[in-house]
Amino acid sequence: MRVFLGIGLPADVREVISSATARVRGLHAPVAWTAPKNLHITLNFLGDILPERVAVVERSMRAVASGIGPFSLVAEGGGAFPGTRNPRVLWVGFFEPLELVRQLQQNMENALSGDGFPREDRPFHPHITVGRTRGGLPPAWGERFVQALSGKGFGVVPVSSFTLYESRLGPGGPAYTPLCDFRLEGSGERETREEKEP
Ligand code: 2AM
Repeated sequence: MRVFLGIGLPADVREVISSATARVRGLHAPVAWTAPKNLHITLNFLGDILPERVAVVERSMRAVASGIGPFSLVAEGGGAFPGTRNPRVLWVGFFEPLELVRQLQQNMENALSGDGFPREDRPFHPHITVGRTRGGLPPAWGERFVQALSGKGFGVVPVSSFTLYESRLGPGGPAYTPLCDFRLEGSGERETREEKEP
């Protein structure tokens, strides 16, 4: 089974993102746009694992969740991987600082590595994938997308838990099924909203 760990988004944030990208989506670029119900933040992609390994992952993730308290993220702006001029993945980003989500992802990766899962081969850059190109896009598209989202806020994502999802790929796009939620039970509630100078 194909699984990943991620953070689900509240309906209002998914709706604001969907309406902000409606105009670029309407331009009919060769992009597979993420269905609004599927918008999420990926923390760790485990890929294909044996079903009996799920219990191992769940045990480790409960330990990770007990060490970090709830926090919130503020979705803002957009970008493209690997870059705006050669866009393959179009995404919505978050306000810095992102220390708590980075800590959560790092603790997760350390625990999974201890369980024998390979470490991610790309640096963690928290984002919400809103579209993937089919075969590459002209640079102007990346710029158009980033400009359309520039300076826009998409709302607050309260993170009080994270989720193990099963991903089933089908002709109509992927279907994500939550398998287990892990409540963050460490001490203290923190905001990661950018601190503004007075
Ligand atoms: P992304 O959106 O950050 O690219 C569920 O499939 C999620 O797992 C996707 O949203 C994607 O995260 C991530 N993912 C899918 N295939 C992957 C792969 N081969 N390597 C790493 N992450 C992958």
